[in-house]
Amino acid sequence: MKTYEKIEEAVLFLNRHFDPKKLKAGVILGSGLGSYGDTIDAVYSVNTSSIPHWPVSTVQGHKGEIIIGRVEESLIAVVQGRVHIYEGYSPEEVVFGVRVLGAMGIKSLIITNAAGSTNPDIPAGSMMLIRDHINMMGIDPLTGPNLDRFGPRFPDMNRAYSAEYRHIALEAASELGINLYQGVLAATHGPSYETPSEVSALKLLGTDAVCMSTIPEVIAANHMGIKVLGISCVTNMASGMSSTPLSHSDVEETANRIAEGLNRLLKESICRIIKNS
Ligand code: HPA
Repeated sequence: MKTYEKIEEAVLFLNRHFDPKKLKAGVILGSGLGSYGDTIDAVYSVNTSSIPHWPVSTVQGHKGEIIIGRVEESLIAVVQGRVHIYEGYSPEEVVFGVRVLGAMGIKSLIITNAAGSTNPDIPAGSMMLIRDHINMMGIDPLTGPNLDRFGPRFPDMNRAYSAEYRHIALEAASELGINLYQGVLAATHGPSYETPSEVSALKLLGTDAVCMSTIPEVIAANHMGIKVLGISCVTNMASGMSSTPLSHSDVEETANRIAEGLNRLLKESICRIIKNS
């Protein structure tokens, strides 16, 4: 089955359950960061396994649910449980959710992840607004025939993370008394964490934090002309930056701790993005 047809089937499924004209933004939540979805004024929720062709997350800490919630007069779609390249999914599958939400008409994507800090000035437990990214995954989700209905063959990536949305998030953080760092995010293929030497190399390249997700979705969103706000939750110092060995359960535990502040920041930033749209 062609990509367009798969996307269309998922869109038709979701369209039956709420008014798609009101859908303005998508929110993708990273590992251990799903609780924002439980705080919104939900009008509909569905397990992603019920949506035609929607890939199902195999990672602990990823719920696999979409919640449609009301913000002001609009609706947002909150995705708890993304899928990753390292699970064995193709780049096309990894961005399926963004394609579906984009085809439904969202104009904004708010994306979060757990990341390791490669910058000694950005401590574990903090949040970092993504200013730009460095793709070290060795894949690009736009590989293959271009989906002309969605965007151009060679999309511009000069403004991958909207300056307007960064300004909104910084203002929201300052009003909430939240310390929001800013930096450049790299993504590696995973699932192994980086070696200390890889982290040294990433630092030299200008990276402030490293994750194993987000960048494919951001590329697909830019391809479709969707504006992006990206926030990394720094769950650990990257390899070689501290004496503690890395473990997914520690990453999840710290993510859960950061989630309360993240939820407040998301709520305020998303409200402002919707009001401005
Ligand atoms: N590296 C890559 N991905 C991550 C990390 C890390 O240190 N922490 C959380 N996700």
